[in-house]
Amino acid sequence: MPAHTAYRFPHAQLLGVAGLNRLDAEDLLDTAESHLIAARDGRAKTDVLRGAAVLTAFFEPSTRTRVSFELAAKRLGADALNIATGSASAEAKGERLADTLATLDAMRPDVLVIRHAAAGAARFAAARVKAAVVNAGDGCHEHPTQALLDAFALRRRIGSLEGKTVAICGDVARSRVARSNLVLLQLLGARVRLLAPQPWLPVDAAVWGAEPFTDRSAALAGAHAVMALRIQTERTEGASLASTADYAAAYRIDRDALAACDRDVVVMHPGPANRGVEVTSDVLDDPDLSIAGAQVEAGVAVRMAVLAAVARNAREAGR
Ligand code: CP
Repeated sequence: MPAHTAYRFPHAQLLGVAGLNRLDAEDLLDTAESHLIAARDGRAKTDVLRGAAVLTAFFEPSTRTRVSFELAAKRLGADALNIATGSASAEAKGERLADTLATLDAMRPDVLVIRHAAAGAARFAAARVKAAVVNAGDGCHEHPTQALLDAFALRRRIGSLEGKTVAICGDVARSRVARSNLVLLQLLGARVRLLAPQPWLPVDAAVWGAEPFTDRSAALAGAHAVMALRIQTERTEGASLASTADYAAAYRIDRDALAACDRDVVVMHPGPANRGVEVTSDVLDDPDLSIAGAQVEAGVAVRMAVLAAVARNAREAGR
């Protein structure tokens, strides 16, 4: 585990992993480590954000991310409020996102956490509100706190990521989890491979520094960690699978496929999982192989670190 330094994450928002440096990421991960240890010792609650308001605005469904942001805000002593979306929302009444943001801004929240189907929505929000904005997933673009919690959980399990090989497998091109992870994992010294059917590999994989594969055995050979991704059915836009069975036969993470990996391989999944399609239940539920549960636990600690840092920096910048 890296030693905690005097370096402080300097940003008043977190719109993506792109733009962070290694010290930024390690400061958040080290701070999250102290939150996780405190929570396990029964000292989860702090008053770091006492009197602050954290608004969560989720325009897309979420279980893990929304609940963990709210819990993180409450554990920091903030008032956490979730704005209605769906049929009870401003959107349903035809309000433009810009007008919704102006309305929320007028209430002077300290932090706005936003998830939206449109890539760039978090940046759009950050340009329109004084609050510190945290991206909780914007379309196919980024999901920075997911990547941070993934790195956190992986680092706790296998130690430094320097020189380690991580294979990200499945619906890569449409995955904001993949995009944020491939940037962050490389920032932390890991080598990243991407495994998917050809149409699901990003055309610019090489530009991002990742090695693309269409063959599962080749992609997993010697891998220290394998991250299975959910098929983004809500974003397939006509490019859905001809045959789920054929996809599973070629790309599913199961015990046979894992035989190609390092003997201490770790399996990850951001959730929610399509069991039997991208990963088998016996792998996902095996605590010797899978850190899916640890990823969820890490979410609260990592989001506490992020909320506290951006709120502090926004306050110090007089926003
Ligand atoms: N991993 C993730 O973003 O899950 P949710 O959609 O449940 O937030």
